[in-house]
Parts: sequence; C-alpha cells; structure tokens
Amino acid sequence: MKIEILRLSHRIQRDPRLSTHVALTARAFLASKLYYSGDKDSSLENSLNKVTKQFGGNFKIEYVKDPTKLIKEKKDYTIVHLTVYGETLPSTLTKLKKSKNLLIIVGGEKVPPEIFQLSDYNVSITSQPISEVSALAIFLHELHKGKELTKKFPKAKIQILPSKKGKKFKK
Ligand SMILES: C[S@@+](CC[C@H](N)C(=O)[O-])C[C@H]1O[C@@H](n2cnc3c(N)ncnc32)[C@H](O)[C@@H]1O
Repeated sequence: MKIEILRLSHRIQRDPRLSTHVALTARAFLASKLYYSGDKDSSLENSLNKVTKQFGGNFKIEYVKDPTKLIKEKKDYTIVHLTVYGETLPSTLTKLKKSKNLLIIVGGEKVPPEIFQLSDYNVSITSQPISEVSALAIFLHELHKGKELTKKFPKAKIQILPSKKGKKFKK
C-alpha cells in the first residue's frame, strides 16, 4: 500500500516546528511522501531532505499550491481526512486496510468544509481535540499494526542502535 500525506495550510511564521514534526512522523511511520499547502517553505523541505539523506529511506516532500486539485487528481487513492469530527478509527480501520493507496489529510487551523466532502473517510482519533502529529502517528501505527516500530530504513548513513542507556549509533 502506498501512503502519502497532505498537510494543509502550513504557515511559515507560526508552524515551522509543527509541520516539521508532521513530516518526521509521516516518514518514520512509513509514508512515502508529504505534500503541504499554504506557505512554501524551503527550510522545511531542506530539513526533511537532510534527515532522509542521513537516516535513509526514500521520503519525498513537495509543496502544492492547490490542495483541492491534488485530492481530485488522486483517483486511485482512498482519501482519509483526520479530523476530530470524523467517524471512529475502529469503525473504519478494517475497510481502510483494504485500500490500494491512501492519501491522509491533516489540517492546520481552519479546515474548509470542501475537504470533508472530498474525503472518502473523515476519521477521528479519540473524538477529543488532539494535534495533527499525534493523530497521524496513532492512525499510521494502527494501520501498520506496529510494524513501523522495528523497521530499518534502506540507504541509511546513520543507524540508531537501540540501547538501555546512552546514545548508540553506527555510521
Ligand atoms: C489543532 S487541529 C485544528 C482543527 C480546526 N479547528 C478545524 O477546523 O478542523 C489541527 C489538525 O489536527 C488534527 N486533529 C486534531 N484532533 C484530532 C482528532 N481527535 N482526530 C483526528 N485528527 C485530529 C486534524 O487534522 C486537524 O485539522
């Protein structure tokens, strides 16, 4: 299954850390690409590309000016919008696991009503307001049944070695 993420309405002044965390989480939880809309931000792109170069994998990041157009173009994808207002994860997960490809949308501040309509599924994690980072992580964790927790990334220049105490890695 190919998994891509769309992060809406990035604001260069207010969201740099949060959008970076969305992107890092997407990568670590085995998404292949993050699209983002709002402000184009080359420092966000550079910092993610640097992480991928060092820690491996093929994660891509791409700015999109018109997220609605992107969603409409993703014809062979199941579109999942993570929103506090959505259906519960347990009621949708079995169906979602059968998808060929997934485009997972996370919002920024106000998400336009059109996104709810364009999405095949609007899914809530807990039905309590949380953050896009935690919603994305829990969604992907449940989708993968935890296989991301021990995944090794190809082409890594640095590999972190799990240890009881201290920091171990190999180059
Ligand atoms: C801080 S929230 C802002 C939501 C915004 N007020 C709106 O109109 O939807 C930012 C994003 O976090 C995600 N999010 C927050 N709580 C969530 C939850 N319980 N389940 C799924 N996604 C959630 C959604 O993707 C949301 O767009």
